[in-house]
Amino acid sequence: MIDVAKARTMTPGVENVVHLNNAGAALPSTPVLDAMLMHLRREAAIGGYEAAAQVAAQLDAVHGSAARLLNCAPDEIALVDSATRAWDLAFYSVPWRAGDRILTSTVEYASNFIAYLQVAERFGVTVDVVPDDSVGQISVDALRSMADERVKLISLTHIPTNGGLVNPAAEVGKVAAELGALYLLDACQSVGQMPIDVTSIGCDLLSTTGRKYLRAPRGTGLLYVRRAVLDRLDPPFLDLHGARWVAPDRFEPQPGARRFETWEYGVAARLGLGAAIDDALAWGLDDIRDRVYTLAEELRARLTDLPGCQVHDRGIEQCGLVTFTLDGVSADAVKAALRSRSINVNISRAPSTLLDMTGRSLPELVRASVHYYNTEEELERLCEALTET
Ligand SMILES: Cc1ncc(COP(=O)(O)O)c(C=O)c1O
Repeated sequence: MIDVAKARTMTPGVENVVHLNNAGAALPSTPVLDAMLMHLRREAAIGGYEAAAQVAAQLDAVHGSAARLLNCAPDEIALVDSATRAWDLAFYSVPWRAGDRILTSTVEYASNFIAYLQVAERFGVTVDVVPDDSVGQISVDALRSMADERVKLISLTHIPTNGGLVNPAAEVGKVAAELGALYLLDACQSVGQMPIDVTSIGCDLLSTTGRKYLRAPRGTGLLYVRRAVLDRLDPPFLDLHGARWVAPDRFEPQPGARRFETWEYGVAARLGLGAAIDDALAWGLDDIRDRVYTLAEELRARLTDLPGCQVHDRGIEQCGLVTFTLDGVSADAVKAALRSRSINVNISRAPSTLLDMTGRSLPELVRASVHYYNTEEELERLCEALTET
């Protein structure tokens, strides 16, 4: 069980704000902050290259921490600077041919869908959206019936940016395995919020960010690439870290997922990412999930009881992202009213998940996303503020 008082002592931001924007960027813990600040001071004191040399062992350990988090090998991890970049690196590495098919979900993030449309235009690839089942999850039956040998990629968003839905990622993994298609999971909102095991999910590729549920700094992201699929991918970019220039007319890519990385990166941010992952592992992902789900369930119940408030989350399993609307009050007005009381929430607008939002006739939603360091009292403060809005 999470010791909430201890978690809050280690989270300086809770002194200032009721932070319910953890699906935007969570508050970092003191160890994360210390790891970064110490390194920035080290860089200023002795020079950037020299400072990095001093922490070479800690930097090397970050791949190992990420591998423990996702249950894979350290050489199946690439550390990059955002979830989108991680996802792009995987997606644009697929050798697309005319006639290939992509099967995807209704809740895809805009950046993913823009990339589908781009390769559709560029290579003559077909993008097929698998319908939802009756509770709003991807229909695994429909997926299975739509699948054929032309499907090159199944690309799924695990948890959408606009709600508490958790898609059945492991069920989708079984279909991908039956088909022999590549399976890319956008786990931007799930990693750090719940246990994620790439082996039991059966994905070949997984992308995520540091700044959301992992509580790492902004500008950090992770890509998992199953070793067995490396040969089926051609990285869109390779620098002198991703590959070696071995003869005037020849290069050799790095043997593992590090071929997707760049030589240059924010060293302080990477140390912060490592500290954040170690923190999450120390708390325990099962305990984090239990606490987050309990808080979210409580918040949904409270919001449902508020006059004029509609909760919009779908799915059987519902996570820490809670979305709602208030009758007659715009999402901007709700957000501003809460902000004036030092309560942070965010807005999901239709263009970020266009298919789902237009399908449900929702132009915008207020999103309150809880983390394990939030308290029941904070949820009460949110609801009180909403009744006064
Ligand atoms: C489902 C999903 N995928 C991808 C992203 C993009 O992440 P990043 O901004 O780190 O690139 C987001 C961001 O909110 C997201 O919610």
